[in-house]
Amino acid sequence: MNFGHLARYYHLLEVVFIGRGLLLARTAQLERLAQGRPNQHALMVGEGNGSFLLAFLEQFPEVRVTVNDLSPEMLEVARARLRDSGVDASRVEFIAGDIRDVERPANGYDLIATHFFFDNFDDAVAAEMVRIVESLSATEAQWLVSDFCMPEGGWRALRAKVWLSLLYGFFGRFAGLKTRQLPATESHLSAGRFIRTNRKTFCGGMLYSSRYEAVPARE
Ligand SMILES: C[S@@+](CC[C@H](N)C(=O)[O-])C[C@H]1O[C@@H](n2cnc3c(N)ncnc32)[C@H](O)[C@@H]1O
Repeated sequence: MNFGHLARYYHLLEVVFIGRGLLLARTAQLERLAQGRPNQHALMVGEGNGSFLLAFLEQFPEVRVTVNDLSPEMLEVARARLRDSGVDASRVEFIAGDIRDVERPANGYDLIATHFFFDNFDDAVAAEMVRIVESLSATEAQWLVSDFCMPEGGWRALRAKVWLSLLYGFFGRFAGLKTRQLPATESHLSAGRFIRTNRKTFCGGMLYSSRYEAVPARE
């Protein structure tokens, strides 16, 4: 998979393909997050060109942030967007590389964000990625996830199928995505130590935005 040569056009492609839906899904949980306990250190996995990062930094001026993406080009676009916005980026660390190689800080990350990340993988790899990301989290952590999903039945499901086949076709051709169907990300998430505390859908049920909280391990 290589999003490098799409990095400069990714934002434009997103707006043309889906409009504001993706941004709404990424940021839908931020208001509730701000009302909860403060976070110390956030990890954004496969963050891409920084759309969520920008919105997050503006709303959470105290939180330290580690931003990971496999594509250095995507991270360069994210850095440029931060510079242009004038947001203080001194508390942001960028790690270009595979999330599988990112080390867990001593206490783990108490906030994780994975937006439109897991749906780039086939089901087996998505399951592996969920467990890897989970292993980087703190004992008390929250996790924000947004991704595509399939609405139940009717014309919405048909519409989602058409969109997904177009999107998978496009990103298969231009970013080398191997998979052509959504993995069961939500099942993989609920098989671990996080429970879902909120879920919203957008674009006729084709996108979801969820908040998860870690359940303390039993003695
Ligand atoms: C579809 S883009 C989503 C970008 C962004 N999160 C968003 O909301 O638009 C998926 C991103 O995941 C990154 N990625 C893919 N595999 C990765 C891996 N193993 N580790 C870290 N990032 C990865 C890609 O480089 C790409 O930027």
